[in-house]
Amino acid sequence: MTRETTVRIAMNGVTGRMGHRQHLLRSILALREQGGLALGDGTVLWPEPILLGRREHALREIAERHGLEHISTDLDAVLADPSVDIYFDAQVTAAREEAIRKAIAAGKHIYTEKPTATGLDGALELARLAREKGVRHGVVQDKLFLPGLRKLKRLVDGGFFGRILSVRGEFGYWVFEGDWQDAQRPSWNYRAQDGGGIVVDMFPHWEYVLHELFGRVTSVQALTATHIPRRWDEHGKPYDATADDAAYGVFELDGGVIAQINSSWAVRVNRDELVEFQVDGTEGSAVAGLRNCRVQHRGTTPKPVWNPDIPATEPFREQWQEVPDNGEFDNGFKAQWELFLRHVYADAPYRWDLLAGARGVQLAELGLRSAAEGRRIAVPEITL
Ligand SMILES: NC(=O)c1ccc[n+]([C@@H]2O[C@H](COP(=O)([O-])OP(=O)(O)OC[C@H]3O[C@@H](n4cnc5c(N)ncnc54)[C@H](O)[C@@H]3O)[C@@H](O)[C@H]2O)c1
Repeated sequence: MTRETTVRIAMNGVTGRMGHRQHLLRSILALREQGGLALGDGTVLWPEPILLGRREHALREIAERHGLEHISTDLDAVLADPSVDIYFDAQVTAAREEAIRKAIAAGKHIYTEKPTATGLDGALELARLAREKGVRHGVVQDKLFLPGLRKLKRLVDGGFFGRILSVRGEFGYWVFEGDWQDAQRPSWNYRAQDGGGIVVDMFPHWEYVLHELFGRVTSVQALTATHIPRRWDEHGKPYDATADDAAYGVFELDGGVIAQINSSWAVRVNRDELVEFQVDGTEGSAVAGLRNCRVQHRGTTPKPVWNPDIPATEPFREQWQEVPDNGEFDNGFKAQWELFLRHVYADAPYRWDLLAGARGVQLAELGLRSAAEGRRIAVPEITL
């Protein structure tokens, strides 16, 4: 016999890009479409979102479109409701810390987008408060659940690479300035005073990707730039882009791997995917993107000889082999929501918590300091 347990989740920021598409539609509503989340002991969790935000009409419109009942513009009132179990945050980064602090004080379990706070002190404080209150907590680390990176992790775990030497990542695409064609990202991303910047946005991702696949980041050296200093916002008004829109980073990892990742919103894509990581090891190499992963083994490695006088002698890109899926990959955001819900309701282990989130904030903070001071900076291990 199955028992249905309703899980009331306050979802803040569901009118935004991430909150709406990835978390509400592709995760929570997708879970409802599949009949809820079966815990395996006869319990089925039925997620009941409460759409929380500042603009009532926008929330109402989303609720009506998806047949949902509950909306609110009053965070305090929702947090005071004892039937609400979980607080989820996908607001703009600058608004997150205060809201999560309140939610912890109200005894809610926390699930949140990254970065968890605007500075390391605040991020650590949230982790401490959550631990003291005894609530469960999780931070979105979606890239780990993407097919390309899961295949890459499988190769690492299977010993494919031998000794891993280096990782080079290339992330980015052209974000339109907003005058001639609309910008495809929100304008706050380009204003430092509003919590924007590519380091703050992307270094938290690089922290957990590097850490989980290759080793903890032990030092960072970054050079940042604001390549496009003037942009046009959602209302067509010009503004000064005060935040970094490109970051060129070098990271040393525990165990000796060297990683180098370019992140840019001012680059045109000449890659198969919007992010790609090449991993070189003594026994083989791989190139992984969001979906795909290709490998070249030591035994099939060509032997090019440098000679600029003749055209390329080999079709280098064709010499790689596709790694098969060998399984089904669900949407990465939904996969992580399921693990978090199992953590809260079935006591399943879960390590992507507010302390892990704080490591991402730390790397962003130290990356920016490295760029400002023009030097390599050690990344100390943080604990609570
Ligand atoms: N995991 C990922 O891959 C990923 C990708 C992009 C963004 N993010 C994170 O998700 C969060 C939201 O990013 P987004 O791209 O969805 O942003 P967005 O601008 O599209 O959405 C922001 C949301 O916050 C709300 N909000 C609350 N207070 C606000 C304020 N003072 N000003 C403006 N909006 C306010 C907005 O109404 C909206 O619902 C950010 O913290 C970002 O770092 C994560």
